[in-house]
Amino acid sequence: MAKDKVQFVCQECGAVYPRWQGRCNSCDAWNSIVEEVIKKTNKKEHIPSGMPIHLKDIEEGEFTRCSSGFSEMDRVLGGGIIPGSTILVGGSPGIGKSTLLLQISLKLAERGEKVLYVTGEESEQQIKIRAKRLGEIHGGLYLETETNTSHILASASNLKPGFIVIDSIQTMQNPELSSIPGSISQVRAAAQELVEFAKKNDIVVFMIGHITKGGVIAGPKVLEHTVDGVFYFEGDSNHEYRIIRAMKNRYGSTNELGIFEMTSSGLREVDNPSEFFMSSGENMGPGSVIIPAIEGTRPFLIEIQALVTPSAYGIPQRVVTGLNTKRVSLLCALLEKRVGIPLGTQDVFLNIVGGVQIEEPAIDLGVVMAIVSSFRDIPLKNKLVVCGEVGLNGEIRPVSHIPIRVKESARLGFKYFLLPHKNQAEISKNLGISLIDADSLFKAFREGLAGSSKQ
Ligand code: TYD
Ligand code: MG
Repeated sequence: MAKDKVQFVCQECGAVYPRWQGRCNSCDAWNSIVEEVIKKTNKKEHIPSGMPIHLKDIEEGEFTRCSSGFSEMDRVLGGGIIPGSTILVGGSPGIGKSTLLLQISLKLAERGEKVLYVTGEESEQQIKIRAKRLGEIHGGLYLETETNTSHILASASNLKPGFIVIDSIQTMQNPELSSIPGSISQVRAAAQELVEFAKKNDIVVFMIGHITKGGVIAGPKVLEHTVDGVFYFEGDSNHEYRIIRAMKNRYGSTNELGIFEMTSSGLREVDNPSEFFMSSGENMGPGSVIIPAIEGTRPFLIEIQALVTPSAYGIPQRVVTGLNTKRVSLLCALLEKRVGIPLGTQDVFLNIVGGVQIEEPAIDLGVVMAIVSSFRDIPLKNKLVVCGEVGLNGEIRPVSHIPIRVKESARLGFKYFLLPHKNQAEISKNLGISLIDADSLFKAFREGLAGSSKQ
């Protein structure tokens, strides 16, 4: 009889140690290392006998993607769901992961697909009550409250569904492993078993994963390698919008994002995100700037608001939501040095309306304009959008995707587009929007701030 092996595994990062220690060397987490027993089986070692095959001889097969029922979700998936793929959806508690997947299950069942929804977290009644709120219940949707992976695979073999939803992967366990449910080895083993089953039977498996305090899916690395796609469902609990974005996708780009709104009857797709993330765009007060941002290939307009006030304390504050704080500090320093605005004695508060998070450098010019507009208490020109990256010397650098940004701004009724000088050539003139090109910050302020063009 083979002897069981004991190993010590960090529950944060999955690093393995031969003996216990207080702190993980690989991720520096304290007290995260737990003893786990690996059961040895007496199976003979499998000797592979296959021969590699020529890549050119392999047939591609038909990748017919099927729709999830939400076009926002399909876009993020790369155009739809690929049969046999395994998809992990992560997100913080209460963000709406179960709601999203139950809605997808209902939509698939409505189209005549067979879906098995496995929950290890909620009772059958709870799911039924939620499903009734979300839409009509069709015959193809089956429910099982189970946490044992072998039982789940047994019922899936009987039922032969096209789709399985696992809510959540952290509650799943294989009783043959002695470690507790939710531990790294359990999560890894459960995911592995499900992935193998999915590949063998051409079944799509959706797994819900919880996020740890640090913002990663618990048992992160192991799961990310095992599945075909990792998607994060995020949002702000104070706002009703939710965003799904790809972190890894074997069958599509990771740049796309889907936007939903949480309503009393579940998630609703937001087709027109620009209208969602900004106020009217007309006669805005000082400190407000509209920026055409891009996420993936999709433009949407966001509104940045700045409030600059004299500091009451020695160290000026930089309070920022939705933007990178370090980038904002850099832009403040740049305004002080290159433009002569004394921000060293001013508190700067910055916020993106609607609570979205935007990282792209093309918003730099908008941030700078918002700060200056608030500092001088002069609003921006009416119906103006601003776009451009700002370099450390105060130069305005060109940005990507200018034509789609311009198109989206024109579509929403904006009249002026302040853009980097070098981008100007990219646009055909007749889009119904006047272009103002800026090669320096001074020119941008002169042209962009209302009534200040005569200065
Ligand atoms: P849930 O899907 O349970 O979150 P998760 O599985 O990510 O933990 O969603 C929980 C929240 O969604 C809950 O706070 C209530 C809200 N909600 C609605 O606003 N409308 C609805 O129709 C549903 C089903 C949930
Ligand atoms: Mg849930």
